Amino acid sequence: MAPLLKINNVAVAVEKRGELLKPVDGISFSINEGEIVGLAGESGCGKSMTALSIVNLLPHGVNIHSGEIIYNNKTLTSLSEKEMRRVRGREISVIFQEVRQSLNPLMRVGKQITEALELSGGKNKEANKTHTLEMLRVLGFDEPEKIFDAYPHQLSGGMCQRIMTAVAAISRPRLLLADEPSSSLDIESQERILSLLMQMNREFNTSILIISHDLSIIRKFCSRFLIMYAGKIVEEGPSQALFSPLHPYTHALTGAIPGKDKRGAKLENIPGKVPSVENRLSGCPFAPRCKKAQSICKETFPPAIEKEDRRFHCHFPLTGDLSE
Ligand SMILES: Nc1ncnc2c1ncn2[C@@H]1O[C@H](COP(=O)(O)OP(=O)(O)OP(=O)(O)O)[C@@H](O)[C@H]1O
Ligand SMILES: [Mg+2]
Repeated sequence: MAPLLKINNVAVAVEKRGELLKPVDGISFSINEGEIVGLAGESGCGKSMTALSIVNLLPHGVNIHSGEIIYNNKTLTSLSEKEMRRVRGREISVIFQEVRQSLNPLMRVGKQITEALELSGGKNKEANKTHTLEMLRVLGFDEPEKIFDAYPHQLSGGMCQRIMTAVAAISRPRLLLADEPSSSLDIESQERILSLLMQMNREFNTSILIISHDLSIIRKFCSRFLIMYAGKIVEEGPSQALFSPLHPYTHALTGAIPGKDKRGAKLENIPGKVPSVENRLSGCPFAPRCKKAQSICKETFPPAIEKEDRRFHCHFPLTGDLSE
């Protein structure tokens, strides 16, 4: 089966003071029809840039520098903006991480949701409103009519996050890119959003990319994981293997969680910092923080090694046992 989405060696670049910087630096992965894939990594590793590159909504001045993105046999990277607009929303939706910036502050939230429905072909205004009110109820709003008429500034951050989810989900896209869909939410709202995503996956076979800091969410809901470090995907595999990693960075991430099953845990406890885009060396970017690093690691970025359904970039991988 051909994958629904295929990312081939994509680099995303921005020019700063005459230098070409790459927040995403040659990544490849795919998502099959109906599959849920998780993407994790510390802050600044390029997760959002990866998602935004798929729908061509990168920030101003940031562009796809090389590689190609193929969705449903269409090369997205060669579509015009007009053609891309037809894909966005109807075929591929995004739950943006920057929720406040993504909602229109001047438009009532109900209208923002029904507009998404109209865009995907919902012509009947009455039916669109009923559908929207239902979706608001599913997302935990007890008085959906009131919310329908509200403006984003009248709602809390968590409420806006649920509205964003409604905008992205209502048109039943074939692929949903969910960038931290449940972070900074109370447990009940987190669960509502995640259970809506799972329901879409079950009922409509929606493929989902979940970006999350929370590895336990990835372990629980995704069939495969991708771990990103400094613009590169350093490890990928089936999510049951997430806690027996091969790459020392994945190992450090899993170790940074206080208790594997704790929800909402932040990945803040790895000594050292992700190198900024301006300071990336030619070798393995994790080498300066890696206990196993030797001189070759600082010199050459390791080629991909594939082992059954796992793939990683490391000169000195672990054996898949967390105790190492
Ligand atoms: N508008 C921009 N112009 C240039 N560089 C940017 C811009 N926005 C982000 N970056 C850089 O791109 C890199 C990747 O950013 P990105 O937002 O994709 O990280 P992330 O993995 O999503 O982080 P987080 O977990 O904090 O959401 C960062 O190092 C950041 O400094
Ligand atoms: Mg992000």
